[in-house]
Formats: sequence, structure tokens, C-alpha cells
Amino acid sequence: MSRDLYDRAVAISARAYAPYSNYLVGAAVRMRDGTVFEGVNVENAAYPLGICAEKSALAKAVGEGYGPGDIAAIAITASPCGGCRQWLHEFRIPEVIFQNASGELVTYAAADLLPDTWDLPA
Ligand code: THU
Repeated sequence: MSRDLYDRAVAISARAYAPYSNYLVGAAVRMRDGTVFEGVNVENAAYPLGICAEKSALAKAVGEGYGPGDIAAIAITASPCGGCRQWLHEFRIPEVIFQNASGELVTYAAADLLPDTWDLPA
């Protein structure tokens, strides 16, 4: 469990743009080579267009050349929503760290957060 990565997610959450929900979320994603990218939720006046912190952190990593299999861990200040669990599954992230409803820091493999999920047939 990476407490440091979770602390980075908490710190970056202050930069979230969440004027509609006032729910600030941060995410920090660590590559296998040690590089870390951070992201925040970004809301929009057209509510469904907002994006989650996990997606914004992962999009940064992809823009810098990383992809599935390159990611060691992600820490999120919220329990990942269903749509984000599909993203975490796509990137095959072995360690997904977040605070659960009881306030404990927990770690799951992405595959365990969405078992038997849909994937493109081989
Ligand atoms: N949110 C995230 O950023 N990540 C999640 O996995 C859960 C929800 C954001 C979306 C929205 O901006 C706010 O939290 C309230 O739902």
C-alpha cells in the first residue's frame, strides 16, 4: 500500500474544479518506472460532461506515452465510480488505493473491482 501516493492524491484534490458538487477529488497514478501523474475532477455546467479525477490522471499518462501494463498503482480520494472502474480495468492496474466508506485506506486489483467485466473478444 502506498501512503505516499494517496497523500499526493489528497494534495492535488485542492485543484479540482467542482463548483456544482463541491466534491473535490484527486488522483495520483504511478507508472512502473516511477513517474507519477496527478488528476482532478473537472465539472461542467452541462453536468454529464464533467470528468472524474481518475480519468484526468490516466489521460495525462496516456498523453505522455504510457498505456495498459505500464501502471503500477493509482490512489484516489474517493471510491471509484462504476465508469472509472472500467477505465482502471482497461489499464490493468494491480493496485487501486482509495478510502472506503468506513474511512479505511484499502487496496484492490482493478480486476477485483469489476470481476468478469466486459472486454473486447480476443
Ligand atoms: N468523482 C470522481 O472524480 N471520481 C469518482 O470515482 C467518483 C466521483 C467526481 C465526479 C463529480 O465531479 C464529483 O465527484 C461528484 O460526483
